[in-house]
Amino acid sequence: MSDKEKSRFVPQDELNRQKEFAKKVREVLSSLYPNGYTPHAFVHSYGCQQNVSDGEKIKGILFSMGYQMTDKPENADFVIYNTCAVREHAEQRVFGNVGALKNIKRRRPNMLIGLCGCMTQQEIVAEKVKKSFPFVDIVLGTHVMHKLPEIIYTKLTGGKRVIDISGEEGIIAEGLPILRDGSSKAWIPIMYGCNNFCSYCIVPYVRGRERSRKSGDIIAEVKEVVASGYKEITLLGQNVNSYGKENGEISFPQLLRELNALDGDFRIRFMTSHPKDATRELIDAMADCEKVCKHLHLPVQSGSDRILSEMNRKYTVDDYLKIIKYAREKMPEISFTSDIIVGFPNEQDEDFEATLELIKKVGYDLLYTFIYSKRPGTPAAKMEDPISDEQKSIRFRKLLSVQEDIAYKKLSDMKGKVFKVLCEGEGRTMENSLCGRADNNVMVEFESTDKSLVGEFVNVIITSSKGYVCLGEIIK
Ligand code: SAH
Ligand code: SF4
Ligand code: F3S
Repeated sequence: MSDKEKSRFVPQDELNRQKEFAKKVREVLSSLYPNGYTPHAFVHSYGCQQNVSDGEKIKGILFSMGYQMTDKPENADFVIYNTCAVREHAEQRVFGNVGALKNIKRRRPNMLIGLCGCMTQQEIVAEKVKKSFPFVDIVLGTHVMHKLPEIIYTKLTGGKRVIDISGEEGIIAEGLPILRDGSSKAWIPIMYGCNNFCSYCIVPYVRGRERSRKSGDIIAEVKEVVASGYKEITLLGQNVNSYGKENGEISFPQLLRELNALDGDFRIRFMTSHPKDATRELIDAMADCEKVCKHLHLPVQSGSDRILSEMNRKYTVDDYLKIIKYAREKMPEISFTSDIIVGFPNEQDEDFEATLELIKKVGYDLLYTFIYSKRPGTPAAKMEDPISDEQKSIRFRKLLSVQEDIAYKKLSDMKGKVFKVLCEGEGRTMENSLCGRADNNVMVEFESTDKSLVGEFVNVIITSSKGYVCLGEIIK
């Protein structure tokens, strides 16, 4: 490993030092909260799965320091919002929720409030919090989470507010404790950061450069969660197809093959795949690996080559359709989902029509649709945009309605098929039912009151569909 590579990993000494701080925090907490009271922490993550996964590490660290988790901020002694900056709306929601904590803190003066994640990594936001939210005690960016024990210790022992958004490039901290949200589905990051700089997107600015975990660490983590009963592993990265490229590790398709070869009854998902790097090698690995779900989330963003080029996406509609075609040839049962941005600066009617055409051609099972949101500091924020908000919402509604017809048709075509479903809990459409996702990511509901099936795989034959849910019956 080169020195540059090494410097991306938080050194073991530093991790050990933080463990010592964690112990000290435990002691401080037990003197601060005597009589056997366990202090409570509320951790909420906004945004993508990567953030949710970070949130599980924050919970793990807090748990190791003696906090018990609560889902009510008003009962918490420490509240931390792990924020998202991808769209303006996400940021406004956080400011609203943080504002509401002011009153709670008035009643609970010892309460600590922290903000971390992508939003606070932006200097301008950290400054705003510093000035306008004096009751927020801790402001952290995305690269200092491993220092939480030291930071909390400083704050609990009378230190000033801590504002730390250092480390722009990003690091990898291995071996942090994790308190996972579920017991059957596990998020496992394989790489962090993004080098793609799509012109609309804030992520590369707040998440640092691409850096991959060692395959050995990933394999060890997968083995560990499978041994503790997890049935679904989702490998995470802003572009999983870049895995291993910067550090000479194995490629992502090779990683899939290695994980597929591990023992155990579990399945593998991954997200997100950037279309410019979605190769035939990736599709071949998906097709060959029986544990890898036949579902590809392949965000296209727009169906217009002109807009794709303005977005700096580095593929054309034709390139995109070629990979879809190849994947369908290899795996006829594969399902596709995607992200679409409506109203990118100066998007014309013909560009939008091209997007509608593309989604009809591909036939997505599900689309995540967004109205373009201007992110200060990104190239798109400086682009002329004569298109009105009203025009954008008309297009947005049109997109939703076209996609709805496609999705309903796809779901009704599933009648008679048998899916392996990972049972997640009670169904919402039918009484006395359970639900879970099929291999192709479709939500399936089936009659059963046998709660022991939750967290297990069951085979379900689809009999009908209702909205976005397939209904079916268990078969042996
Ligand atoms: N790395 C992933 C996406 C991360 S962000 C990828 O490349 O696919 C998730 C989605 O948010 C993006 O796919 C995009 O559709 C949307 N998004 C990102 N920035 C946005 C913005 N400024 N306005 C609206 N949507 C945006
Ligand atoms: Fe953002 Fe593009 Fe990176 Fe995805 S690939 S996180 S959309 S810059
Ligand atoms: Fe949001 Fe950060 Fe994810 S900006 S989408 S939480 S990487």
